[in-house]
Amino acid sequence: MASQSSQWNNNTAFLLAATGSAVGLGNIWGFPYKAGENGGGLFVLLYIFFVITLGLPVFMAEVFIGKKGKSNPVSSIETLAKKSKSSSKWSIVGYGGILASLIIAGYYAVIAGFVINYGFISADKGIDKAMRFLLPMLFVLVIAMVGYGAVAGDFSSGLNYLFSWKAEDFSAGTIQAAIGQAFFSMSIGMGTLMAFGSYMPSDQKVSKASAVVVTADTGVALLAGLAIFPLALGLGFSPNAGDTLVFVTMTEVFAQLGSVGQFVGPLFYFLLAVAAFSSMISILEPSVAYLTQKHSMTRAKASTYVVAFCFLLSLISVAGHNVWSNLSIGALDNPFEAMKYFADDFLLLLVGTGMSIFVGWRLEKVIDADTMGIHNKALMGLWVFILKVISPVFLMVIWTLGNLQILFDIRFF
Ligand code: PHE
Repeated sequence: MASQSSQWNNNTAFLLAATGSAVGLGNIWGFPYKAGENGGGLFVLLYIFFVITLGLPVFMAEVFIGKKGKSNPVSSIETLAKKSKSSSKWSIVGYGGILASLIIAGYYAVIAGFVINYGFISADKGIDKAMRFLLPMLFVLVIAMVGYGAVAGDFSSGLNYLFSWKAEDFSAGTIQAAIGQAFFSMSIGMGTLMAFGSYMPSDQKVSKASAVVVTADTGVALLAGLAIFPLALGLGFSPNAGDTLVFVTMTEVFAQLGSVGQFVGPLFYFLLAVAAFSSMISILEPSVAYLTQKHSMTRAKASTYVVAFCFLLSLISVAGHNVWSNLSIGALDNPFEAMKYFADDFLLLLVGTGMSIFVGWRLEKVIDADTMGIHNKALMGLWVFILKVISPVFLMVIWTLGNLQILFDIRFF
């Protein structure tokens, strides 16, 4: 029998934990390099568009499932499926989220190098307590970096690069990259938000809390872009270095900045580490919650199993960077790329679609204005309509086109 989650006793705990989860490598490493790879402006504008039209509604759906189901991703969905007389097979959406989170943990840890600490932190610190000092530090650091970039780099080229519309870059690949990045960055589709939703105090409103977290996450991504591009462009570096932008290009940028660079450079990587760490502690939450609540394990034992499993997975992803770097899997270059692709591009959008359909079609009667904090009928109708029709149709079209392009090199536009 699945036990219920315990609850956080104040409203800031959810905001801190969910923002700490959302703001991560995805914002400071992923967003700028993907923007650079996809030509800048168009990608950024599509990203913001999808955050508002699809990201926020699906984010709210995921938090809602957790808050209403009051348990780990699998049990929450089972409880709600029962309540709405739906098949218990919907729990596959929860399992899909857990699988995605484990695979992501396996490769994220390699970029972050922090996974081992998780067991200790989760055992005795508490996620919201750790966030209380990590998050403010992160915001201060990123704003300081933007200020520095504005002085030492070329701020107007950076702005122009990030926000100008470039119609020639429009393709299914750019759209998929923007949506995939938006979902990943907001931590949607991995069960984390369901797990955190289940710890939400009962008087906290899903819509308002979600909007705060989504805004903070998007803000940090844009700020990271504003910190990186003025410096890179100002010093004559190419913005489309791919996933080495933050590692190779930026180290060269800092090297050129002389003694100031020697101070700002380490600060920048420290910022990345803080962001990675705060996300890492949340990635494992869905599986730990699943094992403790559904299989009655102690938290320490569950954390140990999950960390051990992710450690093994991370060995595969490390090998993708060295001994297996030439071991291609289908169209994907190496095991690291394959894990990243399978979790970020393949699973996330599937789980996102599953949650949309489940909440939109099966839970329509379970949704209540009070839990959501939406008392305007038209707004509520819009949210449900997006979940029922817009998001599943759009996500599946893009998922199909994007996968055809990446796996089989078949392009339609
Ligand atoms: N949102 C995080 C990032 O932007 C990644 C993440 C995904 C963290 C899922 C936790 C859960 O880097």
